[in-house]
Amino acid sequence: MGSALTLFLAAHQRAPRLIAEVGTYIGNSAAAMGLGAGTTGQALQLVTCDLHPCTQQPLAGLTLPQGSGAQVVQGSSTQMFQALAAKQAKLDMLHLDGRLMADDLKLLAQLLKDDTLIALDDCEGDKRAT
Ligand SMILES: C[S@@+](CC[C@H](N)C(=O)[O-])C[C@H]1O[C@@H](n2cnc3c(N)ncnc32)[C@H](O)[C@@H]1O
Repeated sequence: MGSALTLFLAAHQRAPRLIAEVGTYIGNSAAAMGLGAGTTGQALQLVTCDLHPCTQQPLAGLTLPQGSGAQVVQGSSTQMFQALAAKQAKLDMLHLDGRLMADDLKLLAQLLKDDTLIALDDCEGDKRAT
């Protein structure tokens, strides 16, 4: 609940139009970010990925601004970042709830902006806790 509330508030404050997430699973964090971003009234797009079976509709049942939507990539973070980079996308918010892969860093260099909000799950200081 604490993580979901934090993501909701962070997305509300940052008002991202494009959110990417590593680690979809049951979609709690995606829904929290979607709801928070949706409070701003502007359409948002969420792209989220998972290596393993996960929800395909993380924003289902939420009332969001017209034009909002989610895409679930059933695959690796590298695959998701490659697809975003091919579209020359720039992320407003990135949630990392999985482990980055070797090729992700150079792709992220293309996708991040100076003001991209990066949310790290399960961190203590500068280390991943779990
Ligand atoms: C803690 S769970 C995510 C929970 C999810 N955010 C939620 O709120 O329901 C972590 C998930 O990340 C996925 N994962 C870890 N590293 C990944 C990667 N590099 N690419 C894609 N998925 C990854 C795992 O398969 C796992 O399902």
